[in-house]
Amino acid sequence: MQVTENTSLKNYNTFGIDAKAQKFISVSSYEDLRKALQQTYASEIFILGGGSNMLLTQDINKTVIHIGLTGRKIISETEDAVVVEASAGENWHQFVLWALDHDFGGLENLSLIPGNVGTSPIQNIGAYGVELKDVFESCNAIHIQTLEEVTFKPKDCEFGYRNSVFKQRLKGEYIITSVRFRLSKNHHKLRTGYGAIKDWLTGEKITKPGIKDISNAVIAIRQSKLPDPRVLGNSGSFFKNPIINKEEYLKLQEKFPEIPSYYIGEDQVKVPAGWLIDKAGLKGYRRGDAGVHKNQALVLVNYGEATGEELLDLSREIKNKIYSEFGIKLEPEVNII
Ligand code: EPU
Repeated sequence: MQVTENTSLKNYNTFGIDAKAQKFISVSSYEDLRKALQQTYASEIFILGGGSNMLLTQDINKTVIHIGLTGRKIISETEDAVVVEASAGENWHQFVLWALDHDFGGLENLSLIPGNVGTSPIQNIGAYGVELKDVFESCNAIHIQTLEEVTFKPKDCEFGYRNSVFKQRLKGEYIITSVRFRLSKNHHKLRTGYGAIKDWLTGEKITKPGIKDISNAVIAIRQSKLPDPRVLGNSGSFFKNPIINKEEYLKLQEKFPEIPSYYIGEDQVKVPAGWLIDKAGLKGYRRGDAGVHKNQALVLVNYGEATGEELLDLSREIKNKIYSEFGIKLEPEVNII
């Protein structure tokens, strides 16, 4: 167990914000995690996973516990399916590649998402037609205050669009220590419905794709529009795609016939925040070192020395502009700390 004080978190958040932790404990074993929790008052604890979905707007005057638990294993398998478990500190994309190497299917559309396995259920991460909940079997978690170990099944997690019970009712109460996934063997169900995936496969002349091809397609699509956090600090989509009611949508469509949309049931419509921000003329907009990415307007980027406050201010400016132009209220997808 490594303990330091007044520690910079710059390398621990994908925005690359130089905020400090009053105390920083990195735990790489379950025993160390329990020890660290026993030593610290629950109210003094701040849990840090991959740091890929947060904007640090201030120093953290608490004990930051960095979850470095690693390990992946096969729990059970039948002829068609396998249940695998990965520890919370495993890098998400490395875990996806491991599954692909074993020819286990289900995670390929979620290739190259930044972050760690342990935080994937909190967000119910999703991309290219697949969400974590589609492959989620269960997760193990430890209660921060009582140290009780609990297993959460899918229904306990209350998954929604970029949402779960861990972001709502049970926020800050548990630390997810490992996640189990139910993946396919042999007869994989490919999700190629997303236009860009189809286009990439056609371009590569792949007529009978396998899960590795889908993963390669997703990697290529993501690399073409989403900045690599190791090169340009960012936290993926900064806002959620807003869901508006049908009447509102039809009015917008009259004004902007080209607006992309996805119906959710009959009465609600999800519209891409990236399109709204782009349409408002803010794609590529920059204020100091804080900016809107040039290829995907939903992503805010840190060109170097932006502070969390500056990025937050930029996000407020975007929010105000979208509200005045479209009457739509954007909500952040990242956790503002
Ligand atoms: N668009 C624009 N201009 C832009 C960005 C997007 O016109 O600058 C348009 C696109 O042309 C497209 C539509 O908006 O018609 C949707 O864009 P895209 O396919 O890039 O996806 P998105 O809705 O912006 C969501 C997720 C991403 C995920 C992609 C692919 C959210 C908040 N974001 O983005 O997730 O990778 O779909 O499935 O749901 C993340 O959560 O961090 C993330 C990157």
